[in-house]
Amino acid sequence: MTQWIEKITNAASLEELENLRIDTLGKKGVLTLEFAKMKSVPNEEKKAFAENLNTQKTIITDAIEAKKEILEKEALNKKLEAEKIDVTRFNNEMSCGATHPVVETMDRIIRYFQNLNFAVEEGPLVEDDFHNFEALNLPKYHPARDMQDTFYNKDYTLLRTHTSPVQIRTMLTQNTPIRMIAPGTVFRRDFDITHTPMFHQIEALVVDEADKVSFANLKHVLVEFLQHMFGDVEVRFRPSFFPFTEPSAEVDISCVFCKGDGCRVCSQTGWLEVLGCGIVDENVFKAVGYENKSGYAFGLGVERFAMLIHNIGDLRSLFESDTRLLGQFK
Ligand code: DAH
Repeated sequence: MTQWIEKITNAASLEELENLRIDTLGKKGVLTLEFAKMKSVPNEEKKAFAENLNTQKTIITDAIEAKKEILEKEALNKKLEAEKIDVTRFNNEMSCGATHPVVETMDRIIRYFQNLNFAVEEGPLVEDDFHNFEALNLPKYHPARDMQDTFYNKDYTLLRTHTSPVQIRTMLTQNTPIRMIAPGTVFRRDFDITHTPMFHQIEALVVDEADKVSFANLKHVLVEFLQHMFGDVEVRFRPSFFPFTEPSAEVDISCVFCKGDGCRVCSQTGWLEVLGCGIVDENVFKAVGYENKSGYAFGLGVERFAMLIHNIGDLRSLFESDTRLLGQFK
């Protein structure tokens, strides 16, 4: 008995104390086993036997409780000491924030087009069906609406799925010539390694009198722009389809990682798709009441550009606010 009390008093940790509790009062503890002997004790001695064991049990229980309180206090003090902050300590190192790679890329693109005399236009994030779809030659039940998974609100407004509606808003309020870009946030119901429900696009639109704006103009502007952004890359136009442009093209650059030899990032093709573009469809002009005009448009994903410029593999990491990633862009 005294030997157990001694052990309990000397226990160095809560863990050790718990083991001692199990050794004494646990299912197979020494005291528990003593209680089990009760059966074989003669009746007249049973009372004294039990009283003695109960006293021992109380002494041990009390000792454990008392020691537990001491150890817990010690553990708390240790923790407080370890987490103590010395507010008087002087930090010589100035920690300075960095521009987020998406913002930095967006700013770079905006600055490039501002230098070419493009105006920067904005539109609402909560759009209506007309500006986001209808006027862009995406009538109701048009299969191309399936290309975009839309967040609809109860009142039939929606979160814009692209920055193209700003084209419509600009043409409805301004006359030609128009040279504009529309940077901003867009929303789609998508979430995986290459998609997030919110991301950024930059839309561009150039409109002037009939026959003044050609595909050649578009091609020139885009080749110059992409070589400004990605350095010495090849640029390729692939025929494609967008409801708001005809003809339409998707634009690829030679892979910035393997220089066109084929690697994991470009799926061994040597090419990376970077934007969509085309000549403004006549139906779009009709929707905004324009006659005898010509124009081109293009749209790009800012995150895609940022990822290719900074070699970032997972789109989602751009939105995790992890300072270890962001700190690399100082
Ligand atoms: N709005 C398209 C999208 O979100 C991008 C786009 C493609 C815009 C071609 C354009 C264009 O202006 O001509 O996928």
